[in-house]
Amino acid sequence: MVNLFFKTYGCQANVADSQSLENYLISLGNVQVVENENLADLILINTCAIRDKAEKKVSSYIGQLAELKKNKTYLNIGVIGCMASYLKKEILTRFDHVSFVFGAKDDLNILKDYLHDLVLKLETIKEIYAHEQVHEQVHEKDNKVKFELKRLKKIINSKNVINNKVKELSDLSLGGVKNKDKELKQSFINIMTGCNNYCSYCIVPFTRGREKSYPSNILLDRIKRDLDLGVKEITLLGQNVNSYKDPVTNNGFEWLMEQVANLTGEFWVRFVSAHPKDMTIDLLKVIADHQDKLCTFIHLPLQSGSNKILQSMNRTYTIEKYMEQIDWVKKILPQATITTDIIVGFPGETEQDYLMTRKIIEQVRYDLIYSFIYSPRKYTKAALMLDNCSNEEKNKRLQELQTRQMEICFENNLLTVGKTFKTLVEKRLANGKLLARTKGNLRVLCDSKDELVGTFVKLKIKSAGRANLIGSLIE
Ligand code: SAH
Ligand code: SF4
Ligand code: F3S
Repeated sequence: MVNLFFKTYGCQANVADSQSLENYLISLGNVQVVENENLADLILINTCAIRDKAEKKVSSYIGQLAELKKNKTYLNIGVIGCMASYLKKEILTRFDHVSFVFGAKDDLNILKDYLHDLVLKLETIKEIYAHEQVHEQVHEKDNKVKFELKRLKKIINSKNVINNKVKELSDLSLGGVKNKDKELKQSFINIMTGCNNYCSYCIVPFTRGREKSYPSNILLDRIKRDLDLGVKEITLLGQNVNSYKDPVTNNGFEWLMEQVANLTGEFWVRFVSAHPKDMTIDLLKVIADHQDKLCTFIHLPLQSGSNKILQSMNRTYTIEKYMEQIDWVKKILPQATITTDIIVGFPGETEQDYLMTRKIIEQVRYDLIYSFIYSPRKYTKAALMLDNCSNEEKNKRLQELQTRQMEICFENNLLTVGKTFKTLVEKRLANGKLLARTKGNLRVLCDSKDELVGTFVKLKIKSAGRANLIGSLIE
């Protein structure tokens, strides 16, 4: 058996890719997943390049693995994903203990073949190693084994850039099912890959390539297969799901959501990310018409409340258009959870611009925001823009924004006390509580038995904190 350890950084697109690769490797029959790097024969690191901080975190993790490689020479470490897309050679040069690199925009079929071959070699070498130790103990010298070991060691310790420019659709590209013992079965489905939007700050179009939607018949077949496996939660993924277009029929995202909602079974569907540039009222109407299955959770990334900054970010919508969409959500899906992404300290952002973002926070009263300080990225347009705001000022803005948002979260959460929600139970947490989520993705903790994991239960909210609600079971 080859022991695999998978470390995944970044967004749900990476989670989906890691899950499909992990499932593929397990399906080979000679690979098992271990929970600790120290036990691994193969370590795969799926990387994120979205901000400098994200990259530093990944690099520091890769650096720490050098020690493990010293103790187990046949250990194979593969770096895949968004950093590997544009830093292939740099990664191999900087980290001598990394064995291969493979980028997020390359064809997963190539990696699949490479890994298939690699695990066979790893299995053999592991076995020879076990024998070798026995032989050494009894002071025997088996030259044939030694020779074979040397040959395999050489192959395994070679360094490889796995490259392929043409990305073909394969079962692997569609993502995978998370099927962990005692946890909710979740399916992460890539309905498309890449991004064409070229927001001026963003590296994703460079790491994931051009936008490409996958045919809906293939997606629907996959979803049906996953439902047959007992999946209760499906997340449809794309960098801009609103621009999904079936390559055969030209049907859009609203149509796809409707088809998924019409599949039989009791399950929930989530999606991420919507883009204000292409968001439609029709999508919200489809959700309203199929609320038994389609979750009332809308992640609508704002980025900035200032039209000047939105324009220089190349977001191609105005704050007026954005607020109109928020109004649609509040009218058509009044119970929806609304979340967003915000960047502070973008080049040229003045205190006035920042205050416009702050104002939107007060108006929308988001349930959650993901907020970041702008980080210049290689290849992007914004990296060339004049940035005359100090780090101190950027940090101050971020702190202030997050503090206010925490208060709003808490105030929103308090409004749920006394209400009853249908929830889906995800897993037992380390603190002993069961974690369940509402359709709006709010976290509810409760005391109950393990059998409820993976089932829909009604919970009445007893109290609310900043991050979690506390609920009790309603029969
Ligand atoms: N496709 C999604 C976003 C993917 S990246 C969308 O357009 O909504 C997730 C978030 O990271 C972005 O929404 C943005 O807020 C943030 N982000 C992207 N590039 C960044 C950068 N260079 N610096 C800081 N934050 C960034
Ligand atoms: Fe990046 Fe913009 Fe594409 Fe989102 S839509 S991935 S922010 S370029
Ligand atoms: Fe990171 Fe790549 Fe996602 S850069 S945010 S893992 S698309």
